[in-house]
Parts: sequence; C-alpha cells; structure tokens
Amino acid sequence: MVGIDVDEDKVRALNAGKPTVYEKGVSSLLRRASSCGRFSGTTHFKELADAKLIFICVGTPSVEDGGIDLSVVESAIRSVGGVLGGKFPLVVMKSTVIPGTTANKVKPLLERRSGRKVGVNLGLCSNPEFLREGSAIRDTLFPDRVVVGAEDGRSGREMISFYKRFYAKHTPPIVLTDLGTAEMIKYAGNAFLAMKVSYINTIARICEKIPGSDIEVVAQAIGLDPRVGGRFLQAGPGYGGSCFPKDVSALISFARRKGVDTSLFEAVQDINTSQAVHVISSLGRLSGGLEGKIVAVLGLAFKAETDDIRSAPSIRIIDALLLRKARVRVYDPVAMENTRKVLRDRVTYSRSAKESLKGADVCLILTEWKEFSRLTPGVFSKLMRRPLIYDARRILESRKLGKSVQYHAIGLGS
Ligand code: UGA
Repeated sequence: MVGIDVDEDKVRALNAGKPTVYEKGVSSLLRRASSCGRFSGTTHFKELADAKLIFICVGTPSVEDGGIDLSVVESAIRSVGGVLGGKFPLVVMKSTVIPGTTANKVKPLLERRSGRKVGVNLGLCSNPEFLREGSAIRDTLFPDRVVVGAEDGRSGREMISFYKRFYAKHTPPIVLTDLGTAEMIKYAGNAFLAMKVSYINTIARICEKIPGSDIEVVAQAIGLDPRVGGRFLQAGPGYGGSCFPKDVSALISFARRKGVDTSLFEAVQDINTSQAVHVISSLGRLSGGLEGKIVAVLGLAFKAETDDIRSAPSIRIIDALLLRKARVRVYDPVAMENTRKVLRDRVTYSRSAKESLKGADVCLILTEWKEFSRLTPGVFSKLMRRPLIYDARRILESRKLGKSVQYHAIGLGS
C-alpha cells in the first residue's frame, strides 16, 4: 500500500513510523506496516501507475456560505488522472463531497486528465467514510456498514469484491447504490447524529430545571427503546471536530440551493452554538461572577482519545471565559501542542490535571478523558481554593464526591 501526500513533512513522519495525529494503537500499527514493507509514503504521484485501487481521502473544508472547498479534491484528481495505468484502475471517492460532485465534477475531470472512460477502462466509485476519530482502527476493521455508489456495473462489482475479501471474516452489510445517493448517505448520517447531540443537550437543559432530575437516567431510559437507540445520547458542551460542524453547514447550503427547508438543521447548529453559552452562563452564575477567577479547564480535545481541537467546544468556551476576564489554566493529556498553536499565551498551560487545579476557583471538565474521572474528592478539596466543579461531560459521580466539593453538571437538576 502506498500513501501519497503533497506535504513532505507528513510523508517523512509517516515513513519514520510517526503518525501525524494521535490515536491509541496507530503508532504501533504504522511501524509494523512500514517495517514489513506493506506501507510506504511518498509525494510522487507516478508511484500510482500500477495501483488497482486509488482512494481519494483529501479534505473538503468549509467555505464562507457553508459549502465545501473542492480545490484539493480537484488537484488530487488532476494528479491521479495523469498517472493512471493498468486495464481498469478504480478511483474511489472517500472525501466527503456534496451529492452530485463525483458524477458532475470528479468524473469529467478524471476522464479528461486520463483520456479514459468510466465503465470502459476506468472505474469510479463513491465510498463514504464513517470512521470516528479516536477509534479509527476499530471502525475500519469492524464497520457497521459499507456504502458503495457507482454509475457503472463493473466499478460497483469490483469495489464490493474488494470489501468482501477485506472483510472475509466478518462481512458487514454492503449497500450498493448510485453515486449521488452514496454521497447523500454520508451527510444524512452525520446530520442525524449531530441532531441527536443537540436534541439531548436541549433535554439536558430542561432536566436542569427539574430538581433531582438527571439527563443520564433520562438518556439511558429513552435509549432502551430501539426506535430511539442508546448511542449518541451523551449530553455535553456541544459537538465539535472536523466533521459535524462542517457537514451540517454543507448540507444546509446544498439544501438551500435546492429550495428545501433547512430549519431543522439550523436549529441543530443554533443549539450547538448556544450550548457553549449555556456552560459559560451556568458557570458565571454558580461562581458568583467569573472576573478574576482562576478557572482550571480539564480537557481541550473535541472528544476523548484524540488530540484534535478543530471546532472544539473548549476553544469557544475558553474564548468566552477570557472575555469575562477569568484567568484560564488548561490541561489535556494529548491536545496541549495543538491548543498552544491556537490559544498561544492567552492561557496558562499545566503539566497535569492536579497542577491545573492548584489554587483554582473553578474546575471545568470539557473532555471525557478517563484520567479525569479518576480524580477523587480529596484532590479537588485539597488543591482548589474553592472546590467548585462544573462537569460538562458527566464523567464524575455526584454521589461519590460527598460534601467537600460543590458539584454541578450538565443535565443535573438542582
Ligand atoms: C463523526 C461520525 O461519528 C463518523 O461516523 C464520521 O465518519 C466522522 O464524523 C466523519 O464524518 O469523518 P467524529 O467527528 O470523529 O465522527 O466524532 P464523533 O464521535 O461522532 O463525535 C462528534 C462530536 O459529538 C464530539 O464533539 C463528541 O463529543 C460529540 N458527542 C458525540 C456528544 O456530545 N455526545 C454524544 O453522545 C456523542
């Protein structure tokens, strides 16, 4: 397997067995694959000449109107199209693109550049990716489903035969459809999950108004109904990352252009934005004003098991804390380096959760790292000036914390 990137530093790092993103297990897997010659990185597209399958996995960032920027996809297709060899090389679109992109933009460009014809001497499929950051290995090896979109029979058949071999032991359900439907499935899936998060965050806010009520119990009970489903009902500071925010925006922009009402998805976005505001105003009220207070923020990554802070709620919330003149200390087990690049010297960086808590007035938990759930009440009461905890991820158990700390959490009625 050959991995191509135009970024020489990235390729060099990968070839040295160093992943460019954090995920448990990726480093050893990469080293193993490199050392036995099963993976190598390169910046030279000509190394694709013998490839039977070419996966396009480049980014499709948001543009101002919420749509997506296709320039990197186009440039990759141009480069790939110029070097294709063999009888029927199959180009597979993994990048998330709005419905119609593969048929109307990728296909003509690829045919022009390669001088080949899709379905005759060139294959083209849409094969959206559903892995989650932080569990990419598991999600790749044991996917819930595989979606293949194709316009011609041969491309679809070859893609399916590849996956049947790849998943010989546990073949997941494979959905074969046309290109546009496959592209739509990706957006429909992510928008639905984002909607679930905004839904549960709204229910959490209502629970907070009911004394004794607890969103965790509500979520667990409604999740037992298979029509609702128990996953993705974890209330929190709002969704972040490089996918949900971007994909919901792109779906809205696409639907608007097609004249379809987008109020559902706009509400999903608005609720997500206001969830950060909700955290800040709760914190302001509970602490008697944030000005001058030392706030220890535990967790910066947009979720646990990753070092990614793109569109992370932590960044929105820290910005608001600073605006309210709080003194912010931050700690995350793996996302410190990425955070430094964004927040620079506006906050104080701690080397551990405990260091961050020393003398703090407020502890704000924003990422569900396991190590934070192991902090005992004694740690908070001994180290903090005033042990006020706001748990925006529900990782601490209120009944175990006792009376020595003041515990507040998302979705907990008081
Ligand atoms: C998401 C999808 O889950 C993947 O299926 C998809 O392939 C990927 O986007 C993508 O399009 O590439 P990812 O962004 O890695 O994956 O992370 P998720 O686990 O989906 O979490 C997204 C956000 O929702 C995080 O900020 C997370 O903390 C939040 N979330 C998730 C909640 O607040 N509550 C939940 O119950 C679940």
